[in-house]
Amino acid sequence: MPLSGLDEIPLIGLGTFRLKGNAVQQPLRDAIHLGYRHIDTAAIYRNEKEIGFALQELYKDASFQLARSDLWITSKLSPYDMELPRAALLETLSHLQVEYLDLYLIHWPGIARKPSSSPLNKQLRLEAWNMLNEAKREGLVRHIGVSNFTPNHIQELIAETEYGIEGAFIQMEVHPWYWRDAMEIHSCFLEQNITMVGYALLAEGKLLAESSLTALDQIAQRLGASRVQVTLAWAMSKNWGVLVRSQNPEHMRLNLETLSLVSSLTAEDCTAIDKTSSPNNEEKQCWDPRIVT
Ligand SMILES: NC(=O)c1ccc[n+]([C@@H]2O[C@H](COP(=O)([O-])OP(=O)(O)OC[C@H]3O[C@@H](n4cnc5c(N)ncnc54)[C@H](OP(=O)(O)O)[C@@H]3O)[C@@H](O)[C@H]2O)c1
Repeated sequence: MPLSGLDEIPLIGLGTFRLKGNAVQQPLRDAIHLGYRHIDTAAIYRNEKEIGFALQELYKDASFQLARSDLWITSKLSPYDMELPRAALLETLSHLQVEYLDLYLIHWPGIARKPSSSPLNKQLRLEAWNMLNEAKREGLVRHIGVSNFTPNHIQELIAETEYGIEGAFIQMEVHPWYWRDAMEIHSCFLEQNITMVGYALLAEGKLLAESSLTALDQIAQRLGASRVQVTLAWAMSKNWGVLVRSQNPEHMRLNLETLSLVSSLTAEDCTAIDKTSSPNNEEKQCWDPRIVT
C-alpha cells in the first residue's frame, strides 16, 4: 500500500527563499543540527549551489552522521525555464550535487517575460508536467507537484495530460489571512490523494507586526506558545505540511517544537483562527496566479 505524501514528507521544512551566498551555510548547519530534515529551495532563489556545497560539508562532518537519504529536498522549475524543463531539472540536480530530488514542483503556472494571458502559459505548463512525470519514471525525482496553481490549472493537468495528478504535492501560500484557496484545492482533489504544503505562514511579517490578534493571542497564552507556533500548528492540524524560513537557531528550535503542539489545538481553536479572515476579506500577500490563463 503506498504511503500518503504526509507520511513521507517531514511536516516542517526549512524555507530558503532570500538566503543567498554566505548566508546559506550556517542556517543549514543549525537547522540540520536541530533536527530539520526537509529543505525547500527553487532555481529562482539562486541558492541551490550554496545548499549543495553546504550539504556536502555536512555529509563529511562525522558529528552529523548525515546521509543524502536522511533528507527531503524540494526544488522548483523556474518560470524562466519553462521552455527547457528537463535541462533545468538536470542543472538543479547538478547544483544541489544530488542524484535525485525528493520533490520537484512547477513553481508558477505562467512563463516569465510573457503576458499572463499568453496561450503559451498553458502549452508549456502542460509540457512541463509531462516532463516531470517522465523524470519521476526515470528516478530523477521521487515526487512531483505544482505550486501556486489554481483549481482550474490543476484540473487541466487531469483533463489534458495522460498522467493526471494522482499523489501530487501542491505548495500554496497559507496563513490566517489567506487559507481558503488551499482548502478548496485540498478538498477538490482529495480523491487524487494530493498532499498540501503551506508557505509564507507568517504572511510576509504581518503575523508578527499586528499589535493584537485576539484569537491567536488567547490560544497562544493558554498553551504557553507563541503566535508563530500556534499558526504553524493550526496549518498542520489541517493535515498540511508547512515551510518556515529562519536564520535564528532559537526561532528554528521553537518552530520545530510546534510538532508537539498540534494535538493541543482544539477544533474550536482552529475555527477561531480560521475566522481571522472571512471569505470576503482574505488578504493574499504573495504573487497571485489567478491572473494566469
Ligand atoms: N512556492 C512559492 O511560490 C513560495 C513563495 C514564498 C515562499 N516559499 C517557501 O516558503 C518558505 C517560507 O516563506 P518565506 O521565506 O516567505 O517567509 P516566512 O517563513 O513566512 O517568514 C520568514 C521570516 O519569519 C521570521 N521567523 C521565522 N520563525 C520565527 C519565529 N519563531 N519567531 C519570530 N520570527 C520568525 C524569520 O526571521 P528570523 O530569521 O529572524 O527567524 C524571517 O524573517 C520560503 O523560504 C520558501 O522556501 C515558496
